[in-house]
Amino acid sequence: METPVVTPIHDPLNTPLHSAQEAVAGSDVQPIDLGTDRREPVSEDWLDELASGLSEYGWMSVDVRSRLGMNLLAALKQEVQILDRTDAMKKAGIGRGNDLVRDRSVRRDKIAWLQGVTAPQAALFEFFESIRQGLNQRLFLGLKRFETHYATYHAGDFYKQHLDSFRGRASRVVSLVLYLNEDWQAADGGALQVFNRDNEHEVCGTVLPEAGRMALFMSEEIPHEVLPANRTRYSLACWFRQDEVPLPL
Ligand code: OGA
Ligand code: MN
Repeated sequence: METPVVTPIHDPLNTPLHSAQEAVAGSDVQPIDLGTDRREPVSEDWLDELASGLSEYGWMSVDVRSRLGMNLLAALKQEVQILDRTDAMKKAGIGRGNDLVRDRSVRRDKIAWLQGVTAPQAALFEFFESIRQGLNQRLFLGLKRFETHYATYHAGDFYKQHLDSFRGRASRVVSLVLYLNEDWQAADGGALQVFNRDNEHEVCGTVLPEAGRMALFMSEEIPHEVLPANRTRYSLACWFRQDEVPLPL
């Protein structure tokens, strides 16, 4: 068995999250019992489906409500909502380290990196780890680790068409986005638009950010865009990487 490679790195997120939880304790925050969720285990067949979707089309959208459980999805949403009420969510940029640019004409979401330290995050990381191993076994991608952040788009926020990774850099290889919003209607905007990998002008899929829906795609190949949201949109993005750089905290 491969050892998980989510390295516990120094964790500023942990502190804001706990103090944020304390700050709102006694208001409307109810602990969510993850123990009562029934989860369908990540099966070999299901991993086969993900791998063949990625290798044939380069992208897919899949319902993971039964794999993760509704309580876990609700608990993750509760975490991002708490973070969103504090200053823990930071304006997202493009690039990394010294190359980081915050260009509000390209992207307007706010993000907070996850460390896998809370119970819901630990359960989620276990799920991502089985996807990492499953994809490696089937597609030989050499995915070494993953990095994950929450994202909030408030009304009017968007992320213009982009790729998640530049060709040949072998950094982010597979992108995953998990949505956390109940009752999302087309009129709420905020859809993920996926474009043809050979023609960035041709839309080949639209994914509404409904709770439990997950989009998976090849980071270097698939142009995509988040259309302006008309109401607050919560999600979680995860990238499986071939290198081992630390989180950009
Ligand atoms: C991203 C991204 C898509 C989405 O964060 O890079 O493209 O649907 N997100 O949130
Ligand atoms: Mn993206």
